[in-house]
Amino acid sequence: MNIGVLVSGRGSNLAAILKDIERGAISGAEVKIVISNDPSAKALRVAERHGVKALALVQGTSTRQAYGERLSRALVQNGVRPGEGLVLLAGFMKILSRGFVERFAGRILNIHPSILPAFPGVRAQEQAISYGVKVSGCTVHFVVPEVDAGPIVLQRTVPVKDGDDEATLSSRILRQEHIAYPRAVKLFVEGKLKIEGRTVRVGV
Ligand code: GAR
Repeated sequence: MNIGVLVSGRGSNLAAILKDIERGAISGAEVKIVISNDPSAKALRVAERHGVKALALVQGTSTRQAYGERLSRALVQNGVRPGEGLVLLAGFMKILSRGFVERFAGRILNIHPSILPAFPGVRAQEQAISYGVKVSGCTVHFVVPEVDAGPIVLQRTVPVKDGDDEATLSSRILRQEHIAYPRAVKLFVEGKLKIEGRTVRVGV
């Protein structure tokens, strides 16, 4: 299965997934292209270090819809096709157009640093600290046009400790992200995820 990964930043989730593909923990899948909206994203260097094609695609003055079409074209040109490929959002900080999401429907995964539906959107860890929750974590979910609202594949929790700040909570959650995301990708590649309405059945 051909995978395209959309990124904006550091690329630690991308690295975790590439590592699992390289060591054979995820088999039958290849990351064909990593695309960042930010040319300075470290994630592009992560891709290159792993011998994966890296592309910066800046939105600039394009509308969301036009940018979605450019992303879609770049994915298809690199072998990630609607209906057969897999698109992973790994710290991608842009909202995708409805057209893009519908084209790759059921084949786009995202990781979010909270237990959704709590704290969608940006700075989820900071939102969790400000709210005073005692437990947080991460969610891998299918992407739908509404932000952070798609069917949930899996979640992993962490405690929020006294004295935590955004940085300490983020790093505790990130360790769980690096377990959750490769696991979800493996399940998808093996054909073990079935979307039934809002629920994802994780099957045999
Ligand atoms: C991760 O914590 C991911 O959950 C978050 O960005 C970080 C990316 O880190 N994503 C979002 O907040 C999406 N709304 P990484 O670049 O090291 O994988």
